[in-house]
Amino acid sequence: MWKLLVVVCIAFSTNLSAEIKILAFSGSSREDSANKKLIQEAASIAREKKANVTVLDLKDYPIPFYDGDLETKEGMPLKARQLRQLMIQSNVIVIASPEYNGSLPAVLKNVIDWASRSENGSYSLEAFKGKKFIIMSASPGGGGGARGLTHLRTILENLGGTVLTQQLVLPDAYNAFNPDGHLKDPKLKSELQQLMEAAA
Ligand SMILES: Cc1cc2nc3c(=O)[nH]c(=O)nc-3n(C[C@H](O)[C@H](O)[C@H](O)COP(=O)(O)O)c2cc1C
Repeated sequence: MWKLLVVVCIAFSTNLSAEIKILAFSGSSREDSANKKLIQEAASIAREKKANVTVLDLKDYPIPFYDGDLETKEGMPLKARQLRQLMIQSNVIVIASPEYNGSLPAVLKNVIDWASRSENGSYSLEAFKGKKFIIMSASPGGGGGARGLTHLRTILENLGGTVLTQQLVLPDAYNAFNPDGHLKDPKLKSELQQLMEAAA
């Protein structure tokens, strides 16, 4: 009997519940983005653990820069609405973002700004409040993009998101992946595994 109990406990501790909906995306829309590779690696780890993961590419969500007049005249752009709905439907949101000039890229900030609006044009926390955020960064530089994460964390927390204290910073990112897209360093892979398990 106790053996069965141990097996059940192990199964629960290593699988992420399929009830948990994870949305994952990179703050870079670039084709060969290191942050996209990091997101794919995180998603594949979460799927191995039976999680329900949706990966999106910001390239497929071209959204005009937030403009109050545009919002008043035309409402929220379709792609912004779709992305915001995906956030609302998720429990966990994983973002891997490059650092641009010590902060987060405009494309990512724009997504956050639109997502912080309701469809009737008022401030809304629905896409953030009660969500768990996992943040990470990849950069070809030695700092790994950590400065950008500080800003991203502040913004997400201001919007009511719970950002995991644990985060992953990947320096020398252009040399970090095998041609098959997986992380070369087993230590980093295990760090990423722990981070994704923390999502549960
Ligand atoms: C406008 C701009 C600003 C950048 N600023 C930084 C920076 O502050 N720190 C850093 O580590 N890399 C910086 N980079 C380099 C990016 O880390 C690099 O382009 C990286 O590959 C972007 O991520 P991606 O591979 O996911 O597209 C900058 C790149 C651009 C285009």
